[in-house]
Amino acid sequence: MRKPIIAGNWKMFKTRDEALYFILKVSTMMPDIDKVDSVILAQSPLMRDLVKRQGENLRIGAQNLYYEDEGAFTGEVSGQLLASYNVDYVVIGHSERRNIFGETDQEVNKKIKAALKHNILPILCVGEHLEERENLQTNQVLSTQITAALDGISKEQMANIVIAYEPIWAIGTGKTATSDMADESCGFIRDLVKTLYDDIVSDTIRIQYGGSVKPENIDELLSKPNIDGALIGGASLDPDKFIYMANAALKRVE
Ligand code: 13P
Repeated sequence: MRKPIIAGNWKMFKTRDEALYFILKVSTMMPDIDKVDSVILAQSPLMRDLVKRQGENLRIGAQNLYYEDEGAFTGEVSGQLLASYNVDYVVIGHSERRNIFGETDQEVNKKIKAALKHNILPILCVGEHLEERENLQTNQVLSTQITAALDGISKEQMANIVIAYEPIWAIGTGKTATSDMADESCGFIRDLVKTLYDDIVSDTIRIQYGGSVKPENIDELLSKPNIDGALIGGASLDPDKFIYMANAALKRVE
């Protein structure tokens, strides 16, 4: 049985005061960490304050890192620094990073390796554009992104990676993929992982769905066999909604 993982990607939202208010409100309301992983992914300058207040059942992550440990890379944040704040997770290859900041599959691969080197669990994001889905290229896009991202990653390291399937057309649009569509793509990813590794890795890898997930649709999405959790943008900014969605994952394991 795979442990569900519910992660709130705050993107570039929330001031320090708003973030602290949120963490204070939700940290005692999260399901037992032995049953569900609940994670908030915030802007890097918030890491220290949030990790300090994460409590027993909530964990904090960053939304990006640079793959070098140090150097003349103005404006970047290293995995080494994040690790020194005891950050547990980092989002790698979010479509906003790929599309707005031009991040390539090769950079995504280096960033995953950097995260693993510093014992930070990478959440690898993949997903297709609307035109690609319409042209029946979804599987090809997922296959290219995942194969490149996991190049040189060992079977053992796969135990410390989460994959998030986020169709770009469903992000921030209110258009959720139907649960069957989401499950089918997550299933394709699971089969691909089996081809790249083996049955055990394929059975144990956790795959999240992301794209307009909210309290109204999370139960249905989590009822699907290949969906092990959610990566939530907009709806994760509201503490009551996040509490609801983290606890919705409990039902899948109880
Ligand atoms: P929304 O939930 O706002 O659609 O964002 C999804 C996302 O990009 C999470 O990483």
